[in-house]
Amino acid sequence: MSVCVAPSILSADFAELARDIACVAPETDLLHVDVMDGHFVPNLTIGPPVVASLHNHTRAYLDCHLMMTNPGEYLERFRDAGASGCSVHVEIGGTDELIDQMEELQLDVGLAVNPDTPFDAFRPYLGRIDLLLLMTVFPGFGGQAFMAEVLPKVESSAEEIRAQGFRARIEVDGGIDVQTAPRCADAGASVFVAGSAIFGQSDPLAAAAAIRRAAGGGDGGARPWHSRRL
Ligand code: DX5
Ligand code: ZN
Repeated sequence: MSVCVAPSILSADFAELARDIACVAPETDLLHVDVMDGHFVPNLTIGPPVVASLHNHTRAYLDCHLMMTNPGEYLERFRDAGASGCSVHVEIGGTDELIDQMEELQLDVGLAVNPDTPFDAFRPYLGRIDLLLLMTVFPGFGGQAFMAEVLPKVESSAEEIRAQGFRARIEVDGGIDVQTAPRCADAGASVFVAGSAIFGQSDPLAAAAAIRRAAGGGDGGARPWHSRRL
């Protein structure tokens, strides 16, 4: 399965977003956009207006990670702003309805899972989603240490997806760098979100390429991610 790199703009310079995303464009399969509401996580970031601005500056796939208690009230606005796919957290409940809503809006369907949420809590939805976003840190902040204890859950998810012939791909998010990406790849992940390991480096483009290589993706650079919308 091809390796996808998803730079997380959380670690970019918010006053220089267009510059920063252009810098990593050749290695950007998906652009990861962390939306935090101050309730689901103890931090606030960005919403649909910034997604709309990003959409005007890039053709990249906009992968919106909604760390929110009430994403259902905003999905349409994210879609209208140019989101390609949205991931909602399974911990907030109402997952089937949220998936229905994303399907109706023709958004790619993502389901995000905290490090301490067990496999059985999201297993029933694996056949309905495009992206399973397994958090390898507790969401809320960039720059945290990778939690290796999530790896068995990556393995169980990959096994189930393979056994059932589901389309979902596994995205890992939190503490991903050249050391941790290969461990996640071995466990079955194929989409790698990285914030500080890309934008926190002196050469972000080279850093993104290094993560791709470390995960087994070779030197080919970014390839467009499949999407229902593109
Ligand atoms: C954390 C966010 C991540 C974050 C990852 O809540 O969901 O996407 O940007 O940052 P790093 O790669 O620095 O751990
Ligand atoms: Zn994220």
